Amino acid sequence: MRVGGAAEWLLEPATPAELAAAWNAARERGHLPRVLGGGANTVVDEGILPGVVIATDRMRRVFRPAAGEDDLEARAPRAAIAHDDPARDPRLVAWCGASLPGLLRAARDLGYRGLEGLVGVPGNVGGGVAMNAGGRWGEMWDVVERVRVLAADGTLEDLERAACSPRYRDANLGGRVIVGAVLRFEPDARAAIEERMRVYLTEKRRVQPVTEWSAGCIFKNPDPELSEGRSAGKLVEDCGGKSLARGDAIVSPLHGNFIVNRGKASAADVFTLMEDLRDLVLEKAGLALEFEVKRWRA
Ligand code: EPU
Repeated sequence: MRVGGAAEWLLEPATPAELAAAWNAARERGHLPRVLGGGANTVVDEGILPGVVIATDRMRRVFRPAAGEDDLEARAPRAAIAHDDPARDPRLVAWCGASLPGLLRAARDLGYRGLEGLVGVPGNVGGGVAMNAGGRWGEMWDVVERVRVLAADGTLEDLERAACSPRYRDANLGGRVIVGAVLRFEPDARAAIEERMRVYLTEKRRVQPVTEWSAGCIFKNPDPELSEGRSAGKLVEDCGGKSLARGDAIVSPLHGNFIVNRGKASAADVFTLMEDLRDLVLEKAGLALEFEVKRWRA
């Protein structure tokens, strides 16, 4: 969204163990850290954000697990992994700071099907898993086999897919921090994967302002039974919300669920416009939309 200020304290761990250490150091000093992934779905206030932000940017590893080993830990690349047949074990281990577009490229290049539906989704693996990023062609948890999470008390824990109940846009892990994930794909022809990505991206570019400065969809889509099948974007459009603006923050003429920064918008402009839209849909359609975007207030 290109708005927002600075963090009072910014910690940049490079490994899962450092992430836990950063978390615990902040907790011991009385802070509840905020964890920042790619920031694609977060709108940050202006000024100095008090307290501790832990950025996962340096935790970018994506690797193929060796046979019998998928413990999410770093290890030196092995020739044996590079030369054996990827289709025999179509899994990847991704740490939270790996970029989603980079992960999709790695999966495509290996001939791994399963995440093409997330083409064009920005951000990192941690945020993508925590929020179960996705859309009509699939979602992140379609491929999650296991996650490593950091609990509020600073302990690391591995959770199998069967022990989790992810839902629409929410991993449903009670606020635990995603440290990394083991992802299971299906082998497929690279050309077929590439073609699906091309088709999805073309459709996305047609209906969403993908190259403009935004935080993606502002609201979660409502229960279709309550909204007569209308998405949040369609509801905003039907209620006349596409003409609303606050400063340089405008509602995208292309898609009613996107706020776009035309150049000099402030975080306050964006926050106010978000509330304007929520109030408008409540008043005109009687529906209380829920924000998908995370707001970090100073
Ligand atoms: N539409 C309108 N007017 C609008 C916006 C949309 O009529 O102002 C109609 C159009 O007919 C359009 C259709 O809605 O073709 C579908 O739009 P889109 O494909 O964008 O679907 P969506 O339900 O609005 C969801 C996800 C998106 C994801 C897309 C595609 C949510 C809140 N949004 O959007 O995810 O990219 O499906 O898979 O679930 C995000 O979460 O940040 C996000 C962008």
